[in-house]
Amino acid sequence: MAGLDWTYGVSTLRQWESADYEPSLPVSEKSNPLTRDIDRASAYSIVKMLQVCDSQMFQKEAGTIYQRLLSDQVVKTLMEVAKRVEVIIKDPQESCVVMSGCGTSGRLAFLISSGFNKALSQLNQSEVYSYIIAGGDRALLSSQEAPEDDPRLGVLNLKKVCEGKKRVLFIGISCGLSAPFVAGQLDFCLQHPEVYTPVLVGFNPAHQARDEPIQDCTFTFHSVVQRMQELAKSQKAFLINPAVGPEAISGSSRMKGGSATKILLEAAFSAAHAATSSNTPITHNGVLQHMMAYERTLAVTYSQTDGITTLVEAAGQSLQCSRHVYYLGWGSLALLGLIDASECSPTFGADYEDVRGFIRGGYRELNNNDGPLTSLGPKFSIAHEDFLHLILPCLTDKDTVLLIYTHSDDATEVGNMARRVREKTPNLHAVYHQADGDTAASLQQDDIKKLCLSTLKITWPQEALVSGTLQHMRELSTKLVLNAVSTGAHVLKGKIYQNHMIDLQVTNTKLYRRATRLLQKLSACPEEKCEEALLKAIYRVDMLTLEMTSSDITTHTCFARNSTKVVPLALVILLTGWSLVEAESHLKQQPIVREAVAQWMW
Ligand code: F6P
Repeated sequence: MAGLDWTYGVSTLRQWESADYEPSLPVSEKSNPLTRDIDRASAYSIVKMLQVCDSQMFQKEAGTIYQRLLSDQVVKTLMEVAKRVEVIIKDPQESCVVMSGCGTSGRLAFLISSGFNKALSQLNQSEVYSYIIAGGDRALLSSQEAPEDDPRLGVLNLKKVCEGKKRVLFIGISCGLSAPFVAGQLDFCLQHPEVYTPVLVGFNPAHQARDEPIQDCTFTFHSVVQRMQELAKSQKAFLINPAVGPEAISGSSRMKGGSATKILLEAAFSAAHAATSSNTPITHNGVLQHMMAYERTLAVTYSQTDGITTLVEAAGQSLQCSRHVYYLGWGSLALLGLIDASECSPTFGADYEDVRGFIRGGYRELNNNDGPLTSLGPKFSIAHEDFLHLILPCLTDKDTVLLIYTHSDDATEVGNMARRVREKTPNLHAVYHQADGDTAASLQQDDIKKLCLSTLKITWPQEALVSGTLQHMRELSTKLVLNAVSTGAHVLKGKIYQNHMIDLQVTNTKLYRRATRLLQKLSACPEEKCEEALLKAIYRVDMLTLEMTSSDITTHTCFARNSTKVVPLALVILLTGWSLVEAESHLKQQPIVREAVAQWMW
């Protein structure tokens, strides 16, 4: 690939596309051949691997079954969606655009709707975007995996948001084309075509959509997709489902899946906004150019590999000695910090205190549907003041603090925060976005820089300012950096085996299936044995009762919410034949899962 000096040949970059590469798995669940050894890599190599993985998003179509991000058909569909959005912006009475998803997909729905509503408000236009996240607003900041399995809840949420609306463009986001919550909403839209136009965003080809029965439903995700494909022929439904390649950490759709969701939807909405505000027509080239600006964002961001590596090393050291990483952000970049931090517990089995995000202005700035959530518990304290009151007094030099801001944020305020942190720890770093040639800002920036151990300075060309894409570029760039920091740090902490998260939570059907598959792959035991070990680890017993074995997956996943180290425990049981108590005590002595199982794996 152009611009990459990393040592992978084209065949390795495209190996996942071959028909016999992990054929039973959809792209979103495949393991990426590029990162097979990420668990043994240095911080620098981890960042390079993530760069190459991210670059796969922009690979061109190559005669395989896979549509890609920049494929003609994808751009064409985005144009059609943009036209529908344009109509809604011009006639916002009784119309709206609703985005919905689970986990990261819902968080991105929130981020994107906030950004585009703000843009409309600034032009004195009515806000038209709404978001739905499975599990409600608390899921913006914490892991709520069970609602993903609930199609009825999805429909209820959708009806509530759309009350009184006569025209709704519904955008269901499910990276794996798998979430029943979203399938239920799409099915509902298909039943009410007089109001709803459904759009599906995901990153598997249609035939790889999940075909597992959904409890009490006559449809599966796959059958919903088939109905949508039929309607797509007459543009009554839209599918936007390019493949972006397997995730660097298998199944971790917060990474490329999240980035690609942001790229696609922002490209469509930006085109619609330009069409309404400056009468610029929605063109193929316009949408394509916008998407290609994101490709340049990858290049600009990863040109700072050394700086990102420094951050990964610092965060990794903090986590390795059971200390913490804090993101202190301003504006929408802070939101990306909150999102990245919230993903660490479901992804790596981390504690909410391990990686935490804080935003200047707290819930005022967040402006979420349900307002302040502080009463829900300590993990919902997200303002800088909360950091100063709750965290700063106990901060040590083993903790890593990252300031995340741009040249348009209040430098005096950033400086004050830097000084307060610096009194407690020298382990302070900055991720700073500036526009090319912005010398006024760089004077104040020098003072902040002196307080920081490292500064990752990302400079954006003036053309980004002119084209109005700067905010989107900075956000994607920040997402890539923070995803690298939190992923890299957890890899260095030993949370990953090869490129699999072993300590994943088993709190919904998709994760239950993924856990069983992973146990099969790592233990080479048959499926029933793996499921049996998984259940023993969930219920913490050596002998499963009939009640346990005859319960459905929902019951298992509900129970698993209160169990820790489920998959590692099951794996040790499978590999050693030990009792639960023996396996638990082994894991207590060697909490690094990779090390705990290594001796039986080679
Ligand atoms: O179930 C957990 C999870 O994997 C999250 O980590 C992820 O963000 C969410 O599901 C959504 O997945 P999808 O976009 O594929 O529906």
